[in-house]
Amino acid sequence: MKKILLSGVKPTGTVHIGNYFGAMRQFVESQNDYHSLFFIANYHALTSVSQGELLKKLSLDVAMDYLAIGLDPKKATIFLQSDVPQVTELAWIFNTLTTVPYLMRAHAYKDAEAKNKEVNVGVFDYPLLMAADILMYDADVVPVGLDQKQHIEIARDTAQKFNRIFGDTFKVPEPLIVENVKTVPGTDGRKMSKSYGNTIGLFAEDDEIKKVVMGIPTDSKGVDEPKDPSTCKVFALHELVSGKYLENLRQRYLAGGIGYKESKEILYENMKAFIAPLRDRRKEIARDPDAVLAILREGSEKARQLASKKMNEVRERTGLDLK
Ligand code: ADP
Ligand code: TRP
Repeated sequence: MKKILLSGVKPTGTVHIGNYFGAMRQFVESQNDYHSLFFIANYHALTSVSQGELLKKLSLDVAMDYLAIGLDPKKATIFLQSDVPQVTELAWIFNTLTTVPYLMRAHAYKDAEAKNKEVNVGVFDYPLLMAADILMYDADVVPVGLDQKQHIEIARDTAQKFNRIFGDTFKVPEPLIVENVKTVPGTDGRKMSKSYGNTIGLFAEDDEIKKVVMGIPTDSKGVDEPKDPSTCKVFALHELVSGKYLENLRQRYLAGGIGYKESKEILYENMKAFIAPLRDRRKEIARDPDAVLAILREGSEKARQLASKKMNEVRERTGLDLK
């Protein structure tokens, strides 16, 4: 019996190489070994996107991104989160089992609070909707970037709590985090994130790649001076795409003799070589949006069947079902 693997991406902006190396690449690698489900987390995106047309576009974009990186609808179930509305019902049930102080410890909420943002209830409740996503389909493993680890822990706690109160119903999932990647740094050295404007788009055009790479800030060391690869923002990105040239670059950094300009030019070439085939595939897929919608419809149908079965069990155990 294959294990079940599930993950989702929020349609809130352009997918970047941090998303890819941190999480999405594992999606592709895992679809042969697991029963995989991948969805577009549009209910989650609603906590920050409040324009209907924009949300539609961003959601379809993620579906196309999934296909472009190599997710195969013959192997994996690809679906839209809101096509399975049962997940919001399950999140409500989890709400009734979870205390407010427990959710107040979640990073995303604490960060928003610290920034004095007006936090909507959806942001506060975000981890429980995510727990519902994961537990609904009996996921064994959830591939995510390191920043999502706490959310998986919340899903585990929630499964255990429900099972304790109502009897064994949910599997306790494990996170799958790529050890040597963990957090991909952005062009400013902070975590690469849509919200920091420090990203390199996974499907970026050459001129965009060039602009971003050549603009990475560096210190003022001259060409001949030795440089520390472990603190260089350019080198951190070489580690993702410069493969067989990496050791040579590291030696040249340590010995001196390579300037940041040359390092960036090499990075640009390697980044371009990595992105170009993905971008071409993405363009090809975008030519036929109806085919993409059909894939989602089929995936959502399968996901709904699984969810409906699980919810029957949950409704029975909780006493919502009177039969
Ligand atoms: P963003 O921070 O850009 O809004 P998301 O929160 O939509 O990204 O993340 C989607 C997936 O990509 C998650 O699994 C997340 O852990 C992963 N991810 C996002 N940024 C990075 C990063 N810089 N390094 C590693 N993984 C990342
Ligand atoms: N919270 C995740 C993110 O920001 C997206 C997400 C929603 C997710 N539900 C999920 C990821 C369930 C894995 C499993 O990236």
